[in-house]
Amino acid sequence: MAFAFLTNKKVVAVSAVGTIAGITMMIKEYMQGGKFTNPIMAEGKVVIITGANTGIGKETALDLAKRKAHVYMACRDMEKCEQARTEIVLESKNKYIYCRQCDLASFDSIRKFVDNFQQERDRLDILINNAGVMRCPRMLTKDGIEMQLGINHMAHFLLTNLLINTLKASAPSRIVVVSSLAHVRGEIDITDLNSEKNYERGKAYNQSKLANVLFTRELAKKLQGSGVTVNALHPGVVDTELMRHMGLFNSFFSGLIVKPLMWPFFKTPRAGAQTSLYVALDPDLEKISGEYFSDCSAKEVAEAAKNDNVARWLWAVSEKWTGLDQKPPNLRFHIDMDTLEIKILDEKGEDLFEKAYKDIDKDFGVQEAEK
Ligand SMILES: NC(=O)c1ccc[n+]([C@@H]2O[C@H](COP(=O)([O-])OP(=O)(O)OC[C@H]3O[C@@H](n4cnc5c(N)ncnc54)[C@H](OP(=O)(O)O)[C@@H]3O)[C@@H](O)[C@H]2O)c1
Repeated sequence: MAFAFLTNKKVVAVSAVGTIAGITMMIKEYMQGGKFTNPIMAEGKVVIITGANTGIGKETALDLAKRKAHVYMACRDMEKCEQARTEIVLESKNKYIYCRQCDLASFDSIRKFVDNFQQERDRLDILINNAGVMRCPRMLTKDGIEMQLGINHMAHFLLTNLLINTLKASAPSRIVVVSSLAHVRGEIDITDLNSEKNYERGKAYNQSKLANVLFTRELAKKLQGSGVTVNALHPGVVDTELMRHMGLFNSFFSGLIVKPLMWPFFKTPRAGAQTSLYVALDPDLEKISGEYFSDCSAKEVAEAAKNDNVARWLWAVSEKWTGLDQKPPNLRFHIDMDTLEIKILDEKGEDLFEKAYKDIDKDFGVQEAEK
């Protein structure tokens, strides 16, 4: 009889396990999504990646290192960063990989990072705004901003703007914003942006990821004709540490049941890095800006992400909260080559020393007159 082996329980059990394993692997393979297959090199290109010590950021850094880029890993935890850097250097055999301190929960730290970077390098070819936090309990950054909005949006808003002149000077250059499909459920709460009246972890995450897309589209308009492009993306559902604040994924029960059941449906971090690499490197995207990608292809954004009024409002608020609206006075130095006298002139061309002396004289005159 052809199916006589079915009476053998061992054979049935082994083939059932084999079939389930095969189907599981097929699902896993299918879920890995689009791959960036272009072997293009990035030799000598200077790249900054935030949150590059783990997850999608680390895989993106590793791949760029293999393509011979000079990669700056902007991380808050130097020990974790150094450990990741060592692994990347050993695997890629690229020594031009650097760990630099940048705590995105502090504007001060971001400014210091940019100052130090600009002292080291005068060019930046690719900025990858990758770091993120998801569904954490309500916490504030050092500057009093709700943590998810603070790190996912405000910190990267400040970082990008501080680096914009370096990116322009290095054109053609690219900015990559790692957003999420979660932006479709997002809403910018213009009455309570900082979630002070009401905090819901998921809502705050969705809002921050919608902010990523609105920022990308608004920045793309401002960068028209500069040779700098900016695009956002969804990396897929990826097995990383992003769910560290979600009890369901961290409990003993989860380790035993939920995670193994979910495993086939998650991308690996390497698969999760593919769209970041595609947006950062694909020559076909040289002139594409203000778009949104997933699985290495262009995708439509949610209606809320197309609202230009909200995008402009968010930009203005972000400028205020990050202190970018407080522009330093526009001063010029002038050296008289005959006398070697140095003058500091304000935006109207007035000599600041002369003005100060006049003010002192005026005060002194008033005091004399009062005597
Ligand atoms: N995983 C997914 O399914 C998924 C889906 C959609 C979008 N995304 C997006 O993908 C991006 C990368 O996430 P991931 O999945 O790779 O998660 P991850 O493994 O948790 O990596 C997040 C990175 O952000 C860093 N980070 C967090 N707070 C920081 C701070 N204050 N200063 C500097 N760095 C900080 C983390 O550093 P520490 O290790 O020091 O905390 C870590 O390197 C995020 O923007 C996320 O929203 C992920």
